Amino acid sequence: MAVGFHITAAILMLAFAIVYASDPSPLQDFCVAIGDADADADANVFVNGKICKDPKVVKPEDFFFQGLNKPGSLSNPLGSNVTQVNVNQIPGLNTLGISLARIDFAPYGLNPPHTHPRATEILVVLEGTLLVGFVTSNPAMNMKNRLFTKVLNPGDVFVFPQGLIHFQFNNGKTNAVAIASLSSQNPGVITIANAVFGSDPPISPAVLTKAFQVDNNVIKYLQSQFWWDNNYP
Ligand SMILES: *[C@@H]1O[C@H](CO)[C@@H](O)[C@H](O)[C@H]1NC(C)=O
Repeated sequence: MAVGFHITAAILMLAFAIVYASDPSPLQDFCVAIGDADADADANVFVNGKICKDPKVVKPEDFFFQGLNKPGSLSNPLGSNVTQVNVNQIPGLNTLGISLARIDFAPYGLNPPHTHPRATEILVVLEGTLLVGFVTSNPAMNMKNRLFTKVLNPGDVFVFPQGLIHFQFNNGKTNAVAIASLSSQNPGVITIANAVFGSDPPISPAVLTKAFQVDNNVIKYLQSQFWWDNNYP
């Protein structure tokens, strides 16, 4: 019985090691990223994350970003703008498993349904009113993907668990501003509509008509709608 327990424990530990899902822990105080251009200059070598700069030449600016007080431009079809502050803006975030974003919304602006493959998000509303929500992953037989939704006012905080599809919609008549913190130096984003209808090259309409159970013309229309922005954050 004791042997059985130890084997079970060992298998469980192995399983946890394999499914460990957030950024790996740093093995030194910091590992300030070298710009991709510098790192790739001599060899086409890529590591999981970014190569560390010599700590002797690291400076305060490597941990610094300014301008998050400024709203992003809202003159786009969605009426929202995400200003990202991740390892690409602050090289000192490399290996630290955390990042930030400012999200601006025009009245009725939308940060459309998307997921962050590598991060949980915690969002605080500073101004305005947001209707937010996330949907659970595929449920057990005969059940539905469950929506968790809430209307947020200034000071309200909401969590979007890692990998789940979520959105934020300004349902008020004034601009809204939120700050999101994410549990990865490089959370990534998959905007559902862009990925499915705006890929390059496009996914075959034969696949999408079957997947969405709609007419070919509907798919052609949606694919034509999403040409404009294949990389919306
Ligand atoms: C977001 O705002 C920045 C700064 O104003 C601007 O450069 C960028 O084009 C905007 N993005 C979108 C999608 O509107």
